[in-house]
Order: sequence, then C-alpha cells, then structure tokens
Amino acid sequence: MNTLVILAALVPLVLCAKHPSRPVGVVSRSSEMVKFGTLCKGNPANKPRGCDKFGCGNYGARRDGRKRKHLGLDISCSDGDTVLTPFDVNISGLARPYKNNKNPAINDGVGLSGQGLCFKLFYVKPAKTSGMLRKGEQVGTMLPMQKVYPGIGSHVHVQMCDLSDPTKYF
Ligand SMILES: *[C@@H]1O[C@H](CO)[C@@H](O)[C@H](O)[C@H]1NC(C)=O
Repeated sequence: MNTLVILAALVPLVLCAKHPSRPVGVVSRSSEMVKFGTLCKGNPANKPRGCDKFGCGNYGARRDGRKRKHLGLDISCSDGDTVLTPFDVNISGLARPYKNNKNPAINDGVGLSGQGLCFKLFYVKPAKTSGMLRKGEQVGTMLPMQKVYPGIGSHVHVQMCDLSDPTKYF
C-alpha cells in the first residue's frame, strides 16, 4: 500500500518532467511559445546574420552610427533563395523597407500574420500579396542584396508590426 502511495505521488512529477520548459497551469502565453519554421530554403535552422562591415543582424544593433536602432532580426538568406512561410499565414500586402525607395533593387517585402503574430519580411519579392499560405510554402524570393551592399551577409529582415523583439520566436 505504501508503494501505491509513492507511485501516485510520482506520476505528476514524471508528467511535468516531460515538458520542463512549459510552466504548469499557464495557458494564456501561447503566442510566446510560437517558433518560426524555416524562412529561407538554404538556411533550414534560421541561422541569424552575424556582424559584417555593414553592421550586425541582432535586434537593437546600431544603425547610422548611433542614430537608429535595428528594429528587427536578420536571418541569413542567399540572394535568389526561396523564402518560405514559417507557419500558416495570411498575407496582408506589400511591406517596403525604405520609405524613400533608397535602394529600389531590394525595396520589397511582405506583411504576414499567423499564430497570433503580425510581422513583416523585408528584402523579399513576394510571390503574392494577398490570401493565405500554409507553412513551408513559398512566400517569395530573396532579393539581390549583394548588388546593393557587396559583402554583406545577405538576409531576410524579420520585423514585428509592433516593433517588439522577434528573437524569442527563433
Ligand atoms: C486568416 O484569416 C481568416 C479570416 O480572418 C482567419 O479565419 C484565419 O484563421 C486566418 N489564418 C491564419 C493562418 O491566421
């Protein structure tokens, strides 16, 4: 009988241990659990852009000296690579990185929503600008970033619509 009591006490512990990162009893944080699937076909693990002579790819990195902060996260992507949807999404339309059309060759992107997140992918030629796509479908093509910034680590820029840090989703 003592054995039974000990077993009954252990079962919940074992169940918890299966999901160590998931706080027990918290159900309303589902959007924080969201993880982006592969964005660029040639970069299945979503390896981020590091630093190069043009700057660093992390959220909050300096831009224009100290005038601006980088408000997105850069994910490595080769020019011309196929850009995929990270999960099921709705397409909200075109999203241009440069308001002044400074670099027309790469001034394209797409707005997406899904999993409770609203975000934009910059430097991508969209395959379409409305409708829905399933996870892993082609949402566009990486634009020729090397032509504009030779030697940069070519990348897709991921920016949340509320300008918050997307790093936790990767
Ligand atoms: C796309 O939008 C429709 C209509 O608002 C909604 O029902 C659906 O859940 C959305 N899909 C995704 C992946 O968010």
